[in-house]
Amino acid sequence: MSFTDHILLAPLIRGLWINAAGESSDTKCPRVVVPAGDAAPAQALSADLSAAWTGDGFDEAQAVRPLKEAYAAWEAGAAKTEGAKTQPSCARIKTPAGEAVYWIDRDLLSARKRSEAGDASPLVLSDTNTAPAGGSDSGIAAPGASAVNRSSVVKDKVVLVTGGAQGFGEEIVRGLAASGALVFIADLNLAGAEKLAAALNTAEKRIAAVAVPVNVSDEASVEALFKTIADTAGGLDLCVSNAGVVKAGSVLEQDVGAFKFVTDINYTGFFLMAKHGGRLLRRQNRTAPGWKTDIIQINSKSGLEGSNKNGAYAGGKFGAIGLVESFALELVAYGIKVNAICPGNFLDGPLWSDPEKGLFVQYLNAGKVPGAKTVAEVRAFYEAKVPMNRGCTGADVMRAIYYAVEQEYETGQAIPVTGGQVMLH
Ligand SMILES: NC(=O)c1ccc[n+]([C@@H]2O[C@H](COP(=O)([O-])OP(=O)(O)OC[C@H]3O[C@@H](n4cnc5c(N)ncnc54)[C@H](O)[C@@H]3O)[C@@H](O)[C@H]2O)c1
Repeated sequence: MSFTDHILLAPLIRGLWINAAGESSDTKCPRVVVPAGDAAPAQALSADLSAAWTGDGFDEAQAVRPLKEAYAAWEAGAAKTEGAKTQPSCARIKTPAGEAVYWIDRDLLSARKRSEAGDASPLVLSDTNTAPAGGSDSGIAAPGASAVNRSSVVKDKVVLVTGGAQGFGEEIVRGLAASGALVFIADLNLAGAEKLAAALNTAEKRIAAVAVPVNVSDEASVEALFKTIADTAGGLDLCVSNAGVVKAGSVLEQDVGAFKFVTDINYTGFFLMAKHGGRLLRRQNRTAPGWKTDIIQINSKSGLEGSNKNGAYAGGKFGAIGLVESFALELVAYGIKVNAICPGNFLDGPLWSDPEKGLFVQYLNAGKVPGAKTVAEVRAFYEAKVPMNRGCTGADVMRAIYYAVEQEYETGQAIPVTGGQVMLH
């Protein structure tokens, strides 16, 4: 018999290690926790959590004390290294369903190598790894620093992007991977997500991305997604709920099936992501009460003002801002910030620019833009609606994501990224 319900234990372990890293720069470098095997070397931390399984199921709060005690016992017995702080790299946990073994390291590749080699030598925390990925080596970003410096806020974090195989999602995945995060690319289009993950792993020369199938409108599928994340990396720091669809149509004509399809993905899908992602993040918070995590919904400028003959889309996006505000009020107790980012039109993305199915071609063929005879003229019409005279890009959205993560003193907000097309009322 062996324990397989890692979503219960791995986030608690991950939180404890993050918390124990303390106020050093390593606080910014959370560990990856990999469940593997059922034999642990003698140097492993050893904890008996059997008592946390009560008649009512697993009691998270009851698991925390024995876990902290086991950590303190490991520290007391560990060999002291002058001027360096050490952490266990392996944990053996006793449960009523058998023992579970977890391997902990800075990144997924190192943790997997440890588990394969059975190498439980202690992790040594250092202050040397503070340089922001791709930015200056000054460590903490100076006031007014660019988004390149800000990108260090996601370095070594475990992040999830739904709808990450193409469009804005792909841009976000690429941005986060280039900034040093481990990115779970979750998409209905698994083949697309796998292709992108493989390309990023080659480019980054590390395990930068892992593809996972999901249908965000199906609760069992969303639950399975977070189980896979816990089974693979032990926890999560940032959940980007990006998957979304459009089916435009007049309120006088639209089929209720089309309306529900859009609502199920854009609105209910976000609820399901926040529900199951929130549970995982809350569990981590039990052992890492000072660690801030984020849920970010990729909303739209159509969540800030109505969209003609596009009510299902705008309604779901407006509604999701109500969810963001409500979830933010509740989840603040667990260190989870919840914000929305509201981009303008991604005119270079496939939704608009696909040469066969894109909106430019569709609008040209439907004669939606008076006088327009080419795709370029249709595009110019939409660019002219933006005070900054261009569409929104992945880089624009990334700046907002870095802001939302870096800003510890804000939650429940909708951040517009529209080139001035939508202004505050
Ligand atoms: N493209 C724009 O101009 C624009 C503007 C503002 C906001 N947005 C928002 O950005 C997000 C991404 O839009 P996009 O234009 O990049 O979309 P897109 O159609 O280019 O890509 C969407 C991705 O989501 C995936 N997906 C669709 N349904 C799914 C489901 N049920 N479960 C899991 N994955 C699913 C698709 O396979 C695809 O990879 C959406 O929330 C959208 O509302 C887009």
